[in-house]
Amino acid sequence: GKRVVVTGCASGIGAAVAKALLAQGAHVIGLDRIASPHGLDKFLAVDLADPAAIDTMLTTLAAGGAVDALFNCAGLAPTQPKLAILKVNFLGTRHLTEGMATLMPPGSAIVSVSSNGGLRWRAQRALLLDLIRRDGFAEGLAWLEARADEIINGYAFAKQALTVWTLHESARLIEQGIRLNCTSPGAVETPMLREIEEKMPGAAIDAATVPIGRRSAPEEQVGPLLFLGSQAASYVNGVDLAVDGGYAATVALGE
Ligand code: NAI
Repeated sequence: GKRVVVTGCASGIGAAVAKALLAQGAHVIGLDRIASPHGLDKFLAVDLADPAAIDTMLTTLAAGGAVDALFNCAGLAPTQPKLAILKVNFLGTRHLTEGMATLMPPGSAIVSVSSNGGLRWRAQRALLLDLIRRDGFAEGLAWLEARADEIINGYAFAKQALTVWTLHESARLIEQGIRLNCTSPGAVETPMLREIEEKMPGAAIDAATVPIGRRSAPEEQVGPLLFLGSQAASYVNGVDLAVDGGYAATVALGE
């Protein structure tokens, strides 16, 4: 079977993705900073805020052979400190993806979970492109630290950066035969959403304002992610797929 890597496998969307891939017979390697309760083929502990730890983990992973698909589901909630969010949700995810891509043969695919919190990236495209031109974790962090006061919403900025980087980097990775796409979920019923509701009342998008009128179950995020990671999407590259019950459509028409 395929050898696939799922980050954030211990909870929420990542746990649902890992479970579905196991049911498909894939060889699933889960990454998280906390141990995963699921029946994974392998679990590797890694803190995505720590590029040296990512490199060590990649060396371990490389010893086991090639990787056919990567699902970037790990992320920190908007309730966390700004720089921690920027490190994990953008810099660390990018660092991991760039390293992982060196282990991936032509025909493989990478899918990241961005967010509809990143939908409005066009409003600051030039700034985001300037950030993604910073090569590597340390340079990116220096750029972000210098602008930390201007970045009001660290979660939105990290997700905008992840989306823009996905679109940008997809053109380069496809030269190696690797497709790179992302999804932008709306509100998904996971431990992260519960934490947001407890600590930042009113911050999550009100389900009543979303055309579908309700939130997503974690399992409803799985199909679009697995599709983008599969051969069924062999001509889909550089796409940000909204999986948000129609919210992005209302934003697009409102702009
Ligand atoms: P969750 O909190 O249930 O799961 C996130 C997982 O990422 C956890 O297992 C956590 O341990 C792991 N993680 C966090 N920081 C890490 C680090 N430094 N190193 C390694 N692993 C780390 O959250 P959920 O809701 O499943 O989120 C998954 C992704 O979906 C995240 O990227 C999130 O931003 C995104 N998302 C979630 C939405 C929601 O409403 N729940 C909406 C839109 C996007």
